[in-house]
Amino acid sequence: MFFRKKAKEIVSLNLTAIDQKVIARKNQEIDAEFFENLLQMAAVKEQKMQAIVDLPVYQHLQLILEKPENRYLLKSAGTKKQLEDYLSAISLPELVIKELNWMQRFEYVYYHTLAVTLLVGVVSLEVFTGRDERLLAIGAALTHDLGITRVPRVILEKPGRLDEYEYRLIREHPNYSCILLTYYFREMEHAFAQTAVAHHEDGLGTGYPKGVIQENPTAQIIRLCDIYDALKTARPFRPAMSTEKALDILAEEVAAGKVNALYFDILHSLAGSQKSSVTGVS
Ligand SMILES: [Fe+2]
Repeated sequence: MFFRKKAKEIVSLNLTAIDQKVIARKNQEIDAEFFENLLQMAAVKEQKMQAIVDLPVYQHLQLILEKPENRYLLKSAGTKKQLEDYLSAISLPELVIKELNWMQRFEYVYYHTLAVTLLVGVVSLEVFTGRDERLLAIGAALTHDLGITRVPRVILEKPGRLDEYEYRLIREHPNYSCILLTYYFREMEHAFAQTAVAHHEDGLGTGYPKGVIQENPTAQIIRLCDIYDALKTARPFRPAMSTEKALDILAEEVAAGKVNALYFDILHSLAGSQKSSVTGVS
């Protein structure tokens, strides 16, 4: 028997928070001591929470929800009302709100994040019964990809193959989100930060950044909705896929054990496809 030595995790670039503070230097090792220092750095400033209901992000979420092509998300008029109620209940640190405003410069990332948030919202209504779990899922979805905007735009929008360094930065972005959220929420292991760091891990341990088995239900739902929406959107390196093709690809992920079958079935039934479920239980 052998044990794989746990790789040291580092940040491969200078990571700057939205308040312009450099919170991690290039090649900084991410360990317990780093997070302790990060919290001390964060504690210097007063933290204000802000409800999103009066902000542009809430209006943008509503606009997406009202698009005719997204009607399939809403099983009934009650679903829209429920989603709006949950979204209205979300308050975030002021610096997280600034991050979401900043994210608008990355048009694809921003609207993809909002679409994923709504998808996660409707799936969560089916998966979770408690208000707190649903709120956590929606809030975590809205904030999970803050770190991707620290990857240079030329890499995010590169049509061709990524080189090793570029690929490494992409694979580090869940760590960037986790570090930023820990700094903004000033809390060790805040649920949003824990979900963000896990949102590209999978059921086989073949994801990133750590390559561990995905055990966080909210992060699993985010990953599922993230892949689904990404496949259905045109990107510089490939055209948009049909709903059916996107579901086929996700069904393969379920069959391989990477994606949770129950969560997939919920998304599958929402998407209204005529294809039968891979697990046969939907
Ligand atoms: Fe991501």
